[in-house]
Amino acid sequence: MNSQISKLVEAAQKARNVAVITGAGMSRESGIPTFRGPDGLWKNFRPEELATPEAFQKDPALVWEWYEWRRQIVLKAEPHEGHRVIAAMEKFFPEFLLITQNVDGLHPRAGNRKLIEIHGSINRARCTKCATRFELGSRVLSELPLRCDCGALARPDVVWFGESYDSNLLSASLDFLGSADLVWVVGSSGMVSVPVYLAAQARENGALLVDLNPEEAEFSRYCDIKIRGTAGQVLSEFWKALQ
Ligand code: APR
Repeated sequence: MNSQISKLVEAAQKARNVAVITGAGMSRESGIPTFRGPDGLWKNFRPEELATPEAFQKDPALVWEWYEWRRQIVLKAEPHEGHRVIAAMEKFFPEFLLITQNVDGLHPRAGNRKLIEIHGSINRARCTKCATRFELGSRVLSELPLRCDCGALARPDVVWFGESYDSNLLSASLDFLGSADLVWVVGSSGMVSVPVYLAAQARENGALLVDLNPEEAEFSRYCDIKIRGTAGQVLSEFWKALQ
């Protein structure tokens, strides 16, 4: 067992309140592209044209087409061993919370329930007028832009660039991280500040920070345990070693 994994196992054996913060790298081994990186989504598309309120205002059909294209990829993807390990962690530790930036729904499909989808879900829409939220199911959306039963435009129920986070989700995350003793950041570049801020708060409160990523990320320097590897492989190795 490599020394980093044994450090992880040792920390996990002592931990009671464990949080995991995941980013797009968590879903890479399920075949879903990340955002930034050699084959990232932002390499082929401009976020300003697709993931902002202004883009939606300008061309709701284009924004819906892009989200529906991503959603069909996501619906064909399967959670991998790493997702299943994080679902098992929820049952293993006395207190556990998963905070994900991912909108792909793979964590709830793997079984996590103590879960905050801090950027929303690509599988849900909400009305721009009456704010009704509705699950999109597995059907292919052919009539785009999608409309609510009230007739108004519906939008993907996700957080776009320039939009604020749901304050209830943020405070629930901060509440838990205030007493966490082990916090993993898995598969995030840290290019979006909130998850980094959440991890930094946890560290302020004495949590041990784990950075699981094949590459150095923005916040790697603040982490206590740095594991250069992929989410699926490392989580699976860790879990076997912990049993
Ligand atoms: N296992 C773990 N990490 C991986 C893997 C893997 N198999 N493959 C890539 N990574 C890492 C990359 O090294 C990178 O650091 O995943 C990270 C992905 O970074 P981003 O593409 O920036 O994704 P993320 O950090 O989730 O972006 C945050 O930005 O565009 C917005 O809303 C979007 O939620 C997203 C947010």
